Amino acid sequence: MTASFHEMWQELRPIGRNSSSGGYRRYAWTGADADCRAWFKAQAEARGLAYELDRNGNQWAWLGATGYQDVAPGDAVVTGSHLDSVPDGGAFDGPLGVVSSFAALDELRGRGTELDKPLAIVNFGDEEGARFGLACVGSRLAAGALTTEAAHQLRDGDGTTLPQAMERAGYDPEAIGPDPERLARIGAFVELHVEQGRALDLSGDPVGIASAIWPHGRWRFDFHGEANHAGTTRLEDRRDPMLSYAATVLAAREQARLAGALATFGKISVEPNGVNAIPSLVRGWLDSRAPDQDTLDTVINGIERAAAERAARDGVDLTVVRESFTPVVEFQHALRDELSAILAKTGERTVPVLGTGAGHDAGILSGTIPTAMLFVRNPTGISHSPAEAANEDDCAAGVTALADVLEGLACH
Ligand code: GLV
Ligand code: MN
Ligand code: MN
Repeated sequence: MTASFHEMWQELRPIGRNSSSGGYRRYAWTGADADCRAWFKAQAEARGLAYELDRNGNQWAWLGATGYQDVAPGDAVVTGSHLDSVPDGGAFDGPLGVVSSFAALDELRGRGTELDKPLAIVNFGDEEGARFGLACVGSRLAAGALTTEAAHQLRDGDGTTLPQAMERAGYDPEAIGPDPERLARIGAFVELHVEQGRALDLSGDPVGIASAIWPHGRWRFDFHGEANHAGTTRLEDRRDPMLSYAATVLAAREQARLAGALATFGKISVEPNGVNAIPSLVRGWLDSRAPDQDTLDTVINGIERAAAERAARDGVDLTVVRESFTPVVEFQHALRDELSAILAKTGERTVPVLGTGAGHDAGILSGTIPTAMLFVRNPTGISHSPAEAANEDDCAAGVTALADVLEGLACH
């Protein structure tokens, strides 16, 4: 572990960490997010990089340019990730990529490497979508995969809209929107990320290259029943949406198991949320992912059908809304092969190429610019939890691999 990596890690460590869970709560446009952003800006300035905040609140630190306007189309090599987290997330998902990007730049400077192309390090805003329900808002907006109008409608659990949250954090929500001019300057975006599974641990490799991301999405199931007294309402007189919800959770598991897919209800809200009241509304959010589109469609249709059948039996009204969707991402083969060749040349043994079910900004941008990902071994395989891990030697191997890749891509 280099001194610079260690120092950066120590500085970020306390930001947004909940002392009782040990997990991170770095949600978009909150105080913890502002502290992470201040940290990013300070890292850029400490290295003499040109700092830029784009129209969507993504942060950029440029070497060899004062901003994207200086860069010829397709010339920039960009690396980075995100600093926000899921509720009680781990330390590595996102920050490992940003910290490793700065550390890789330090390593290149230590090597005396002169880059021929402009390099940028980026922190994409609101990757996890923990607050407003939609993942990768910063990169989606930039790529035009989320319209300004739709973004303005996003609301958090307290009813605060995205524009209100941005305004309170000192940003201009009217500025958000597609950023094709900026993206056109980028020839390659490489995101380093902690692995969110155990493939590298099992293969015995510290670093891997991404092949593809499964198609995935989020669906909101609203089960509307009738609030009533838990102690006086006969079972046959109830319209209890919790029953319909519970049956739907089991159906989701069954559909996913049968199809070789994944389906998770990880978030729920209940109204009126009283221990002695039958709920009037149960709202559950389904996250589902599958190796291909047809399988995902089959799973979602099966879950919706089961939910509708059960809701009808319970006298409950059901509405299902797809809140977000990301189609399958097959990372560009040419760039992926280039990464493999660079890493093979610099003496590391053949780097495994692996797929993932996790979403990433690199996946969103892959439809617009060439993108690739490096994964760093996670010995627990756990992610979106404080148990997420990466050991020091593997983090160092990740930094060196990223430095090699940036050098290979940015030097003629
Ligand atoms: C983001 O990490 C996601 O895959 O949901
Ligand atoms: Mn994540
Ligand atoms: Mn991530």
